[in-house]
Amino acid sequence: MSESLPHPFDNQRYMGTVTQVGPSSVRANLPLAGSTGSRLHHGHRIAGGEVGEFVVIECDELAIFGRVLDVRLPEKERLTVEPSLGAREELHPVGTIQLLATLDLSRKTITPGIGRHPRLGSRVYSAHPRTVRWMISDAARKNTAETSVSLDVACLTDDPSVSISVTPEQLFGRHCAVLGTTGGGKSWTVARIIEQALRFNSKLIILDATGEFWKLDGDCISHITLGEGPRLPDEATEVSFPHCDLIESDLFALFRPSGQSQGPKLREAIRSLRLLQKVPTLDDGNGNLVKRNQKRRPIEAAFALHSEYVESARSFFAASPLAKQIREECIWPFDRNSEDFYGGLSQEEGYCLTLMMRVESIVESADYACVFAPGELPTVCQAIDEFLSDTAKSLLRISLQNVPFGNNAREVVANAIGRILLDKAREGMFREQPLVVFLDEAHQFLNRTIGDEHLKVELESFGLIAKEGRKYGLTICIATQRPRDIPQDVLSQMGTLLVHRLINDRDREVVERAAGEIDRSAAEFLPTLGPGEAVIIGVDIPVPMAIQVQTPDAKPDSRGPDYQVYWSLPVTLTADDLPDAETGIQAVTAFGIAEYELPDGETTEGMTCDVSLEDGSEITVGEGAVVRGCRIAWEIIQIDEDDEALTLRRLE
Ligand SMILES: Nc1ncnc2c1ncn2[C@@H]1O[C@H](COP(=O)(O)OP(=O)(O)O)[C@@H](O)[C@H]1O
Ligand SMILES: [Mg+2]
Repeated sequence: MSESLPHPFDNQRYMGTVTQVGPSSVRANLPLAGSTGSRLHHGHRIAGGEVGEFVVIECDELAIFGRVLDVRLPEKERLTVEPSLGAREELHPVGTIQLLATLDLSRKTITPGIGRHPRLGSRVYSAHPRTVRWMISDAARKNTAETSVSLDVACLTDDPSVSISVTPEQLFGRHCAVLGTTGGGKSWTVARIIEQALRFNSKLIILDATGEFWKLDGDCISHITLGEGPRLPDEATEVSFPHCDLIESDLFALFRPSGQSQGPKLREAIRSLRLLQKVPTLDDGNGNLVKRNQKRRPIEAAFALHSEYVESARSFFAASPLAKQIREECIWPFDRNSEDFYGGLSQEEGYCLTLMMRVESIVESADYACVFAPGELPTVCQAIDEFLSDTAKSLLRISLQNVPFGNNAREVVANAIGRILLDKAREGMFREQPLVVFLDEAHQFLNRTIGDEHLKVELESFGLIAKEGRKYGLTICIATQRPRDIPQDVLSQMGTLLVHRLINDRDREVVERAAGEIDRSAAEFLPTLGPGEAVIIGVDIPVPMAIQVQTPDAKPDSRGPDYQVYWSLPVTLTADDLPDAETGIQAVTAFGIAEYELPDGETTEGMTCDVSLEDGSEITVGEGAVVRGCRIAWEIIQIDEDDEALTLRRLE
């Protein structure tokens, strides 16, 4: 990736001279900004004074790198560009240039900040596209001597012929966030980064919220999916997430105990059910531990004996008797007549009613079968272990498409996966095999604290990964359209930001804050970025830079509803209407009973006709058959022999 720096001061790229110098910006005459078109030089376009254009300013042995922020005409020339007012005179446009970084020409280094300020009369040149590319690759070289692994993710916005590569260190080294409004291109960017990383011996996991990454294909990729439900046409293996892989706080997040009594009773119930795993003789026959009116001593002794298992957050317990067990916990601690016995049911039963109902409905619900009734399915933990130990696999896609949205289920599951990975990281598993975890639609998972004032549950695995994962070789790349919903502690740890179009003011503020050093002016460009365009900001990127992300081969399947298909009305064609431009059908003939082929390859008999298509082919069709015309598939829904009419419906 070593590349020479093109000489920055090329007369052909001359743009103007500095006329006023401020601490962080200069004003300059930009005579070329008044001309109506741009020039080409050696095949590269030179804008010569467009807003957003990168420039270099001469400053002895240094060159100051900057960006044009605004261009305008002096007040007295304002009207001369008005065509109705007669001939154009010579214009003298001026512009403001933000100073961004310093290029040391003799040492060929670039440092953020301004080493020395330009002087009045310093000449301004349009930056060569290769200078921009060089800056990124030079910054990469600073960290690692050898940069044979680099990801070719983007090209320059103005000049698609100049590709921009970044090293994994620059991109993920300190975590990465891909931000932007829906439709800005986040998922495509994630797909492109993944595809590029797969060219190397990488290890990646993606939590796929919507299943849209199913098209990623290759021998080095495993797909698993959690929960049952409609699926995209992928071949993901179904897996379970048994509740014994969750810890207590996860269960609390799921069951949301509220008020003063529910939390403690839920905890008690779980402890009791754990005890039954160790002392089955205490089982009342229905899987419950009934304490009321029983002698306290034997039960207390059993708890003491098995305290290690009972108190351990990861010990197994049977989930189905949980709701009933909560009821069994709602008792007086002592009998009225004897302290040796537990008392009867107390009024707390009433307080816990809502909790019991919630537990019951969640545990029994088909949506949560993958958690509470996992059957024989392999578990997520097993799938992750298998993936990590298989050197032939580079990417594990975990589809969370069918994980329910209610009861914090998505947050809980993602958080638990994060915790599994963090535990492995702390054991040192990723030191020599760094793992990057991608989270698309991260706002669905990385949410907040759950609970009320009596009981707060923090789902913080990804916060912890953001804070400490780096030193263990575990980094994350999150993509989201709602940066303001990402916990501040996670966002502030992101070393690299790829920011697509971002309109909402509050989101932009969040980005400005997270980026720390990002100059406000770079943020001003965010609402105007096109699809796939992004500003890359990072500790290892010398200046925030607009890039065009390259399109991935396996494009994420993120289409919105297709109204043209689903809302379209059937079309009826009679022989007189033909040829028809919409369907491409040229003629229909030979109405009658005959054999024809259905889309699945079967043949059947019924009313048919012969259809001639644009390409000259002719086929015999009947009800249910599909023809392709004008690159669209049409299903035949009716053939009317009397009127010689054919009714079709658009399929795609
Ligand atoms: N790098 C790109 N180049 C060209 N078009 C893109 C690019 N990235 C995204 N697009 C366009 O934008 C659309 C939305 O992209 P997507 O990644 O699904 O957005 P997001 O995930 O931010 O909602 C895509 O369908 C595609 O048409
Ligand atoms: Mg998306």
